Amino acid sequence: MTHICYKENNLCCEDVLLADLAEEYGTPLYVYSKNQFLENFHTLETALGEGDHRVCYALKANANPAILKLLAEHNAGADVVSGGELFLALKAGFSPDRIAFAGVGKREDEIEYALKNNVAFLNVESIPELQLVSRVALRLNTTARVALRINPDIDAQSHPYITTGLSENKFGIAAPKAMEAFTYAASLPSVEVRGIHVHIGSQITSAEPFVLTAQFVVTFVEQLRASGIAINHIDFGGGMGVRYFNAIHHEGLPKEDPAHDKIPEPADVIAAVAPLLRSTHCSLWLEPGRSILANAGVLLTRVAYIKDSGQKKFVIVDAGMTDLLRPSLYNAHHQIAPVAIETYEHELVDVVGPICETGDFFARNRTMNRVKSGDVLAVLTAGAYGFVNTSHYNGRPRPAEVLVNGERVRVIRQRETFEDLL
Ligand code: LLP
Repeated sequence: MTHICYKENNLCCEDVLLADLAEEYGTPLYVYSKNQFLENFHTLETALGEGDHRVCYALKANANPAILKLLAEHNAGADVVSGGELFLALKAGFSPDRIAFAGVGKREDEIEYALKNNVAFLNVESIPELQLVSRVALRLNTTARVALRINPDIDAQSHPYITTGLSENKFGIAAPKAMEAFTYAASLPSVEVRGIHVHIGSQITSAEPFVLTAQFVVTFVEQLRASGIAINHIDFGGGMGVRYFNAIHHEGLPKEDPAHDKIPEPADVIAAVAPLLRSTHCSLWLEPGRSILANAGVLLTRVAYIKDSGQKKFVIVDAGMTDLLRPSLYNAHHQIAPVAIETYEHELVDVVGPICETGDFFARNRTMNRVKSGDVLAVLTAGAYGFVNTSHYNGRPRPAEVLVNGERVRVIRQRETFEDLL
């Protein structure tokens, strides 16, 4: 993480002190570094090298309209999974010929919306969906460009809730049925089968599953071509993992478990698979979300109380699972660091929110810097799958979001008020 780092003992986002942002805009607060996510995007672009390619940002990771607009201005494509995301992508200025529409359960009206807007590809996940796409395209007197999502039955070795490429997962067309599905798709009216889509999971922390998937895709494209189905497009999905442990360094912070440090850089993963995939001469699209936004965002939260139960010490903060769901849902780890390091003393605590759920925690049995009521903490690597999963549960208005560019700060989403709960 380069744009979010300590300068002396103060945690900064670019040239702005996070402590000042908490003071001015209140907490809980999402803060994003514009230069960090644009740099992440360009690193992936560069890693794809020459040849027909596109980095289609997966909107599900963070769909703030200001962020989307910036990515669109930098020529990103978009990966959308609902009519709502397609609407946001179009509003942000992503050109339709750079948009792929994925999703396991697209509704008829969503398919119609995508076809009317002439998106580049519908990534289709089942035979019944293919039939519906064909019917809608026929009715609209248009042709649907389609990529079939294949489930290669390859283990992404990630959390089971975000593993998508195993035969037991609901996603894609099972590999043994893939050839039949392509043959059927090629026979349907108003459907043009252009490509193959794969996405085996998210937060994948080694290159191996990606390489296995690339090998699968290359072999399958050859088989398709041998049986007369001319494929010229590969959408390789997203899924590159990012570093949640030891995301940030300062001599005063406790070191986190180094076992999680060996995560390949997303660009290295691409370097490992791109030559293989390129051998097919297909256009190559990626759909990264997390690797673009995650380390560009933090969630700021203020310590409300410290409670010592005798058995445990609880740091009770003003953000909860309604503001960042990942720890509660996946037991996900986010490093938590004070925005101003005042002491090098560490202690074992649980960091918990105010929600009436035992699962409302950010960290359990975590060695952290000693903090006191009123201190502001940064929950790191929260730029992806953070704000998008906020809710009104327990009558909680959603937090504000601000974007930092150098020393400039822009509110890109107002904090909700009680009125927004109505
Ligand atoms: N393409 C497809 C078809 C996907 O399903 C996903 C993510 C992506 C691309 C983007 O994957 P990424 O590059 O961000 O890993 N809420 C979970 C993550 C869910 C991912 C869902 N699909 C979390 O907080 O970890």
